[in-house]
Amino acid sequence: MKTHLSSNYIPQFSIESYLAYMSSNFPEFFKTFWFDRPGVFKIIDKMNRTTTDFEGSQKGGRGDSYRKAQVNSSVRVVGMKQLLQCAFNNHDFQNPPASYKILDVLGGDGILARAFSSFQSQKNLRLPILTSDIAGDMISQAFNYGLPLIRQPAHYLFLKNNSYDAVIIAYGTHHIPEEERVNACKEAFRILKPGGRIVIHDFEENSCMSRWFNDVVDKYSITGHAYHHFTIDKLRYYLKKGGFKNIKITHMYDPFIIRDARKHKAYSKLMDYVLDMYGLEKLKKGGNIRNTRAKVCNLIKKYMLYNLEDIKEAKPYWKRSLSLFQENGEFVAEMPRIALVGIGTK
Ligand SMILES: C[S@@+](CC[C@H](N)C(=O)[O-])C[C@H]1O[C@@H](n2cnc3c(N)ncnc32)[C@H](O)[C@@H]1O
Repeated sequence: MKTHLSSNYIPQFSIESYLAYMSSNFPEFFKTFWFDRPGVFKIIDKMNRTTTDFEGSQKGGRGDSYRKAQVNSSVRVVGMKQLLQCAFNNHDFQNPPASYKILDVLGGDGILARAFSSFQSQKNLRLPILTSDIAGDMISQAFNYGLPLIRQPAHYLFLKNNSYDAVIIAYGTHHIPEEERVNACKEAFRILKPGGRIVIHDFEENSCMSRWFNDVVDKYSITGHAYHHFTIDKLRYYLKKGGFKNIKITHMYDPFIIRDARKHKAYSKLMDYVLDMYGLEKLKKGGNIRNTRAKVCNLIKKYMLYNLEDIKEAKPYWKRSLSLFQENGEFVAEMPRIALVGIGTK
């Protein structure tokens, strides 16, 4: 037991020092922990022995460039606001109920928690989001941002039953192995309070985004991208098997948006964001940054072509293709993405 307790948990912490840190800095989340759940230490050993796509480049991952892109938490704000609205279930997230708790299962470096804080008019509001992730380097960066954090896999949570108001599984759900997706939903169900909500987000099979991942990210990133995305039926199946009721599945507009006073800056910042976000290192070969940006731009123009007539939820402000336009005295570069979101209640 002692050797396990002292073993590495995230880069900054042994398990002991992590638990001490959370108990003194984030006691409300600490109270929900279940680290003596049978099997937890075996899973921690396994996480330490496995490398995922989102670790740093030293471990063969593409996490460094991914985290560089996430420094700017405003680019995906349109999608993130909608996910938070679903998770807050009609509560005003400018003024969340005291002790409301949300688990962000694929939380990465805590971008959703940081975006939430940026929406608040009130300073020092209690952060209701616990950032969770399987990748040590991701969680380590969430720690650097001062966020409440936990390292655990989606299919086996180190958290007590009936302890959270909402669970978000978003931006990377296709990375959960298919054989673990039902368990990920069952685990979300287990830790939710009665009446709590799951919000699960991914990109649809045979959509612009799944083709982008299969053709572009797979070919030009150092990790490749061999993952299956979601169909509406599969998403409904996972939620049903997880135990959820009142299941609703919808399309959600989830673009990348970058603004700048200068037109060429808005364009180049968006291209750089896409390059880093998806780790398209192989596009950089043999070219200067201008050429690389032009290659990224051509790929976006080729793959992001939405036929909005096919999508009943589409609104007039949803873009069909890469757009560069002026709004309120600024230039806006916008890459459209449309995601699939499933919601269910316990
Ligand atoms: C595309 S990133 C998204 C991170 C963050 N939500 C964001 O939007 O920037 C996907 C994240 O899911 C994590 N992940 C992948 N498989 C996981 C699993 N089975 N359990 C928990 N986290 C996982 C990865 O480590 C990665 O940080």
